[in-house]
Amino acid sequence: MITILISNRKGGSAKSTTAVNLATQLSKESSVLLIDFDTQGHASFGVGSFPVEESGSHSIFEGSTLSESFRPTVMDNLTISPALEFFDVYEYSELQGVLKNRFKKEQLKEFFDFCIIDTAPTYDTLLKNSLEVAQCVVIPVIPHHLGVIGVGQMFRAIYQMSLSIGKKAPLIGILPVMYNPHIKEHKENLEKIKKAFGKDKIFSPIGVDINLTKQFETQIPVVISEKRTKGAENYKKFSDELREKLKR
Ligand SMILES: Nc1ncnc2c1ncn2[C@@H]1O[C@H](COP(=O)(O)OP(=O)(O)OP(=O)(O)O)[C@@H](O)[C@H]1O
Ligand SMILES: [Mg+2]
Repeated sequence: MITILISNRKGGSAKSTTAVNLATQLSKESSVLLIDFDTQGHASFGVGSFPVEESGSHSIFEGSTLSESFRPTVMDNLTISPALEFFDVYEYSELQGVLKNRFKKEQLKEFFDFCIIDTAPTYDTLLKNSLEVAQCVVIPVIPHHLGVIGVGQMFRAIYQMSLSIGKKAPLIGILPVMYNPHIKEHKENLEKIKKAFGKDKIFSPIGVDINLTKQFETQIPVVISEKRTKGAENYKKFSDELREKLKR
């Protein structure tokens, strides 16, 4: 099982949109688990489910198994572990290795080819627990000045946390989102990101597409919608590129 974390401390940078479409696209050919680790529960909505008041992903910190949170989604091959809506991370700020332990005890690698984790825009024990099991981190970024600064901060946070948990840093990829090639600032900032972090770390960008906003209302991810959209095309390309990267 390959575990991919979608993370950026910067809010509103298309983490949930990316998690939902990546998980759905991968589930066309593979068995996928999507863990919604953000109490907002947006990824849960995105795949036809909802955040819950008991037996959610965060319930593992209260002694539950992860499997008891599993629910069906819009895809047969895609399982969601929905967010626990009122989970208070500060009550559990010291807990380390909980998710890792659940993966092992419940032998999740026997059931899933991929695990995608959607995280909240925070630097906390949930991110630490996620990093402990991740082989890869995707950082979605809007190509604004603060977005570029945010990517640098994320890199440092990932290396810092990996060091503190005694784990090799995961493979990191940057996904430009809401990218408009006609906006000079976007083009310039994308160049800055390429220069600072290396071209090989950057995925093909996701353009602006209102269908990516609407999909949370219909609860049908664009990558499986009958309507042909730019958003679906972009997210399919990104998913293929990521699959290729993981093979290397
Ligand atoms: N490429 C896009 N084009 C247009 N709208 C988009 C695109 N990507 C995301 N959005 C919209 O932008 C908003 C923020 O996206 P999303 O919720 O995925 O970000 P997030 O990083 O998960 O946010 P948070 O930090 O709150 O968890 C949502 O309304 C989403 O529908
Ligand atoms: Mg989100």
